[in-house]
Amino acid sequence: MEKLNELKKIALEAGKIIKDGYAKTFEVSKKSPTELVTEYDKAVEEFLIEKIQPLYSDYTIVAEESFLGGELPKKAIFIDPIDGTTNFVHKIPHLAISIGVWEDGKAQEALVYNPILEELYSAKRGHGAFCNGEAISVNKDASLQNAIIATGFPYVKHEMGKEYWWVVKSMQQLLPKIRDIRRLGAAAIDLCYLSSGKVNGFYEINLQPWDVAGGILILQEAGGEVSGIGGTEYDFNKSIIVASNGSIHQELLENLADFKEE
Ligand code: IPD
Repeated sequence: MEKLNELKKIALEAGKIIKDGYAKTFEVSKKSPTELVTEYDKAVEEFLIEKIQPLYSDYTIVAEESFLGGELPKKAIFIDPIDGTTNFVHKIPHLAISIGVWEDGKAQEALVYNPILEELYSAKRGHGAFCNGEAISVNKDASLQNAIIATGFPYVKHEMGKEYWWVVKSMQQLLPKIRDIRRLGAAAIDLCYLSSGKVNGFYEINLQPWDVAGGILILQEAGGEVSGIGGTEYDFNKSIIVASNGSIHQELLENLADFKEE
């Protein structure tokens, strides 16, 4: 557990930078019409890379603000310095640092930290999932009708392309079958809320590896399930991630719209 403990200390330090920014007014830039970035995303990422790289010298860091694209390395640490940047900009306290340590397509260690609400989720493969040191697990309610399902909308929504229509059609099919939808604005936290039994399922299109690399292991260690659309094995090249408490997985899949990968 030693390295995970080191990661926690680093995340807690990085969280102070986010907290500081959350209390201030700052410049906001646009990566696209709907995708925001701030000086804090960059500062937190630089801090995390500087501290984490020496600890994991044989891993390549793939981080949101500095990744130049291309094939993903086999041994990688995926970092999202602020998952939920839009919430950060709008002072909505639902955001997190997300870190996932991956080797050969499998997550080994994970950490998702919301410094505003002071919630630190963590997991190590084979050792369970935790929030602030307390063990967490998914709720096993098998009724889709009782389910709260978290989701998110892709940045390309303004283009109204096939991703947009997949979101609309899936919502149209699913909404009457469930208790309600939540769009909380940070995929890493959506996966942690699923892991701790607050919501029963999660799906989203067009997420990036750093959005989910931490949350996936936390969910698996909490007893949940993750797949691609149609129940295929999830990998970072898939457009859609579907996650659940396990008990509603099949029914959730059946109520999402079909999607053809290019
Ligand atoms: C975003 C959040 C959001 C999701 C977006 C992501 P970011 O991450 O996870 O919930 O809907 O697609 O990109 O950009 O704030 O790190």
